[in-house]
Amino acid sequence: MRILFIGDLFGSTGRRILAENLEDISKENNIDVCIANGENVAGGRGITRNIVKKLHKYGVQVITGGNHSMYDMEIYNSSPPVKYLLRPLNLHNETKGTGKTIYPLSDGRKIGIISLQGRTFVDENLLCPFKTGMAAVEYIARQTPIIIVDFHAEATSEKICLANYLDGKVSAVLGTHTHVQTADERILPKGTAFISDVGMTGPEKSAIGMKLETILQKYLYQSHIRFEPATEGPMFNAVVLDIDDSSGKANTISRIFKRVTYKT
Ligand SMILES: [Fe+2]
Ligand SMILES: [Fe+2]
Repeated sequence: MRILFIGDLFGSTGRRILAENLEDISKENNIDVCIANGENVAGGRGITRNIVKKLHKYGVQVITGGNHSMYDMEIYNSSPPVKYLLRPLNLHNETKGTGKTIYPLSDGRKIGIISLQGRTFVDENLLCPFKTGMAAVEYIARQTPIIIVDFHAEATSEKICLANYLDGKVSAVLGTHTHVQTADERILPKGTAFISDVGMTGPEKSAIGMKLETILQKYLYQSHIRFEPATEGPMFNAVVLDIDDSSGKANTISRIFKRVTYKT
């Protein structure tokens, strides 16, 4: 199975990049399934129903979450939950929404996706991502050997440890959250693909998506002016995974870091 996993989609810039480029990138890479992290896709924070529809139309099948997912709770309050929209699995048990799913392809193959959030330097109060993650892996593994974990975390040590903890049990552990793509992609000894951070699909001329000027004011003067999403320097950050259908082990992981120009 060929999987495209897109790093944190940021605001209207991220959506426009997908609208103009995703179809071509998917064709070029022979993609079967596209997953994107959508925690910042609505103006930098959260996600809405309308945006979920747009992302599906652009060619994203499953959307993962992060520490900004619950910024707008509305979409997670619906029952049953919006299909193939995840928030971190290890939020408290009472939190609405879901953190794991199984997506069926039209040819009968299935892919499991788990969204987890780290605790170090993000939120110490979350449930343990290691134990919660392992339980979800064991549940999904009864239905498919192909399992992708989005680990939305700050500390590279936490990401590396989770990937090695799940090595051989999942197809890939892909880091998100920092919005900066790392160059450490590899296949771990038991066949799990790993990268510390996939990066961001959004405006490169920014401080992780927001206008530099507004963030700089905070660092210089401790001011609390409203951060504004940036739009300049559109870039597409993702990884392409090639996974063995029967074993679920990764054959390859390749980074995409592509600067694009607006077409319209
Ligand atoms: Fe993010
Ligand atoms: Fe985040």
